Order: sequence, then structure tokens, then C-alpha cells
Amino acid sequence: PTPIILDCDPGHDDAVAILMAVASPLIELRAVTTVAGNQTLDKVHYNALRVLTLANAQVPVAAGACTPLSKVLVTAGYVHGESGIEGAELPKPAFAAETCSAVELIAKTVKESDGLITLVPTGPLTNIATFLLAYPDLKSRIKQIVLMGGGQYGNITPSAEFNIFVDPDAAKIVFQSGIPIVMCGLDVTHKAYLTREDADHIRKLNKVGETLGGFYDFYTGYYGQHNKQCPGAPMHDPCTIAWLIDPNLFTGRQCHVDVETHGQLTEGMTVVDFFGVTDKTANAEFIYDVDRQGFVDQLFELLKYYS
Ligand code: BDR
Ligand code: CA
Repeated sequence: PTPIILDCDPGHDDAVAILMAVASPLIELRAVTTVAGNQTLDKVHYNALRVLTLANAQVPVAAGACTPLSKVLVTAGYVHGESGIEGAELPKPAFAAETCSAVELIAKTVKESDGLITLVPTGPLTNIATFLLAYPDLKSRIKQIVLMGGGQYGNITPSAEFNIFVDPDAAKIVFQSGIPIVMCGLDVTHKAYLTREDADHIRKLNKVGETLGGFYDFYTGYYGQHNKQCPGAPMHDPCTIAWLIDPNLFTGRQCHVDVETHGQLTEGMTVVDFFGVTDKTANAEFIYDVDRQGFVDQLFELLKYYS
């Protein structure tokens, strides 16, 4: 199995990513770290512990950044609600988080691993950038960074996707790190959506499925009304885990990707050189398409683990 550290801000779709990672025999979830994004740090951190408790998975968890590197925090309560994960009851945490910081837990996990570690960020990239700055020697111990963020268009502004917009400085550090990057941006995540029929199937699977059904109902409140970019409930963050499990479901291209940190209209935009108009060396596998039915079938199969 691929050893990973999941750095997240749960978040409905982050929660699905956690549940998939725990369920897959092809993934070894070594640690979960949390970062302010969809909601404030205290909320998303609490949610991570609750989702792992729902999954009956006691993995090391540590809290990270409560603000971006240099901006004021913007949250997405308008999508994920007051708690960051409205729509269903979650159990109270059955275990405690580590006392160290997210960056320390990432460093410790990477150092102690025999093999290279894959980082899977599904929130703003603040913790990952801070880790890379604090532990440059550990870069070579990272196999790749499979992230959800960016795209050739935006959702929080016309040009910026939420995770990158929240902390563009961190994103720039990550994209310029030299570590191989797999970028699951809006181009692909809006194609990896669930329909109401899919959600109704999931609801009937087991208790975890029932919880996800409740999440779906809340999450589509926003996506059904305000998001014209996607015909269903986009499973943004789960694309990272689905790609790790079966990259053949996805289509991508090696591209150079840079991040706009200060544009007047384009702050937080990922500038993807899709057609190679510069001669800059590619730094990311830019994923832009998915076999939706294959993705949904994979999710259904994984969720059976909780029966
Ligand atoms: C990203 O923003 C958050 O709302 C989701 O969890 C996802 O990581 C999508 O733009
Ligand atoms: Ca997220």
C-alpha cells in the first residue's frame, strides 16, 4: 500500500476522502493533519477527529495552521455550514489528537518511514509549505504531492479555486518545490460528481453511507443553487485518493503550473501552461478528466468496507 499523510480541512468532501483512504487496502493512512480553510482550525480539527472516529480509525492527528502564511483567513461556511460539516450527526471523538503541531507530525512521520511518503493536501497548502520551509532536508523523502486545488477557472472568484485562493503564497511554495505534483483541480473535480441517485445508493449501504447521505443533502443545498459549473455534487477532495487507488480512471498532462499571488483580478489563480506556450519544464501532472462512472463505482466499492 501507498503510505500517505492527509492534510485536510473537513469539510464534506474532505470527509469522503478520509473515509476512502481508511477503507482502501491500497492506501496506508499514516497521519492526518488539519489546516484552517473550510472553517476555522478548531472546527475542522474537531471534524477530522469525528470522521476518523466514525471510520473507527485511530491514526495520529495533529492540528496545523490557523491562518494562511500572509493573508487573512477566508472560510467556506457558505458551502460547508457553521460547523464545517453540517448535515448529519457525527460521533464525538473517541481519541485525542497528538500534542505536537501538524508540521512536526508530518516531519516525524516522514523521518520514521522506511520508504518515501506521499502527501495528500485537500485544503489550503499552509501546513505543507511551512513543512517544506522548515525541513528542506526531508524533501527527498517525499515521493509526490497529490493535491486538490486550482484549475483553469475558479469557484471563489472567476479565476481562483478556494484552496489556492485562501493561501496563494503557500501554494506557490508547493508548486515550486521540485517535488512531483499531481494536481486535481476544478477541471476534473467538477466531472467527479455524485447524482441524487448515487447518494441514495450510498445512503442505503450502511451507517457511514447514511451519514454521507445527510452530508449530500446539505452540500447540494449550495451546489444545487449556486454552482453552475457542475451538474451534481462535486467530489473535489476524493479525486486525490481515487487517483492514488486507480490513476487509470483519470486523464492528465504534464504541465508547468504557477500561482498568481497578487493579481488584481486573478489572486490565487493557478496558471496552467496546458499547451506549452512557454518552455518551462513541467512541474505537475495536471489532471483534467475522469471516468465518472468508474470513480463512482470505486467509491461504492470502498464504502462497503463500513458494513
Ligand atoms: C475545495 O474547497 C473546499 O470547499 C473543498 O473541501 C475542496 O477542498 C474545492 O474548491
Ligand atoms: Ca477541502
